[in-house]
Amino acid sequence: MRITLGVTGGVAAYKAAELVRLLQQDGFTVQVVMTRGAREFITPLTFAALSGQKVITDLFGDSSGSDANLESAIEHIAVAQRTDLLLVAPATADILAKFARGIADDFLTTLYLASTAPVVMAPAMNVNMWNHAATQENVARLRARGVTIVDPAEGYLACGMTGAGRLAGQAEIVAAVREVLKADRDLAGETVLVTAGPTCEDLDPVRYLTNRSSGKMGFAVAEAAARRGAKVILVSGPVSLETPAGVERIDVRTAKEMYFAVLDRVGGVSIAVLAAAVADYRPVEQHAEKIKKSDAALTISLEPTTDILADIAKNKGQKIVVGFAAETERVAENARKKLSAKNADLIVANDVTAEGAGFDQDTNIVTLFSRDGRDLALPKLNKSEVAQRILDEVVRLRGLLHETTSVKRSGA
Ligand code: PMT
Repeated sequence: MRITLGVTGGVAAYKAAELVRLLQQDGFTVQVVMTRGAREFITPLTFAALSGQKVITDLFGDSSGSDANLESAIEHIAVAQRTDLLLVAPATADILAKFARGIADDFLTTLYLASTAPVVMAPAMNVNMWNHAATQENVARLRARGVTIVDPAEGYLACGMTGAGRLAGQAEIVAAVREVLKADRDLAGETVLVTAGPTCEDLDPVRYLTNRSSGKMGFAVAEAAARRGAKVILVSGPVSLETPAGVERIDVRTAKEMYFAVLDRVGGVSIAVLAAAVADYRPVEQHAEKIKKSDAALTISLEPTTDILADIAKNKGQKIVVGFAAETERVAENARKKLSAKNADLIVANDVTAEGAGFDQDTNIVTLFSRDGRDLALPKLNKSEVAQRILDEVVRLRGLLHETTSVKRSGA
């Protein structure tokens, strides 16, 4: 697992060196990011030597202890994607304020906004700065947003005062990291099958029927599930996306190939999320040679494909089965129909005509329709965030399923 350690400018910055060592002993790979302030207290070279990794110091340029081409304007996105947890230690009052307000004026603050990984912050500062209403408001705001704050310890401070403000012990910080990662890996032990992308149904060697799916939504689900500890099998139609880390990918082209790939693997799966835009019809005949152009009208006969979702959900047993509904009208009504007609546990409905939603967008606007009658309308979110919310709902439904099963077993 990869921890990105943000070191900010305080006297306690030197203590982060010991943190790197402890995290590595726990088996984590540590990527250090230093703010300008931190570099006034300790050199990047120390962290480069300890972590064995390039230390990132700037949004646009210089990175010490590294080769020049590491840095680019989009490096924060790449680091964000590789980060399993963002730890900031020591965290100054300034970084707490910037994270709380969403200010992105250097690498670390930009990374915070670009990352969906959990965040742990260990503040260290003068006692009055820590107790100041502004700092406490920022801390409360961050906590409300899910950030774990490892409270500073009481004691003698570098400024000569005594009180709360010392960086918490390194062992305590590492324990908090472990705890957060454990809670964040709520799909550990699950096998999740995800379908993504379009299918292509050939008419002849040069022409085919397809749709606008880019695969982004399904790939985001696969990536989020892997991050949450699941074993993930991703069955994908033709797309130009990189396979998320730790995910097993099976490439298919047609609806039929997708059906057989899913059928082949679904036996060992506990959660299935079918985000692919599967062709509902395929040409009855695939011509071996290119269909010749003529002046006459051309009629192509189509036959229905197997509905993969309905097929696997009809005998789903203890599986949680999630389908999508790509709609252009009467979204809620159609989604509810699909929920019951296909025997799904959850339908993720998107109006694919809405701005910022549906095909080939980085964002989506969805409503989650659950088997137990709960409807959850989400605002426009990045597809990675949508993926997390879908998995949160899956975890809730899994809890309900387990409750029902144990009540049945106990005969209540
Ligand atoms: O890939 P992106 O560019 O990121 O776009 C995302 C998306 C719009 C493709 C995605 O959000 C989405 O809506 N996916 C489902 C698209 C779709 O085919 O919807 P549908 O309403 O036609 O199908 C309903 C459900 O049945 C879907 O879960 C679908 O995967 C499944 N299905 C449909 C037909 C079929 N033969 N087999 C199926 O399993």
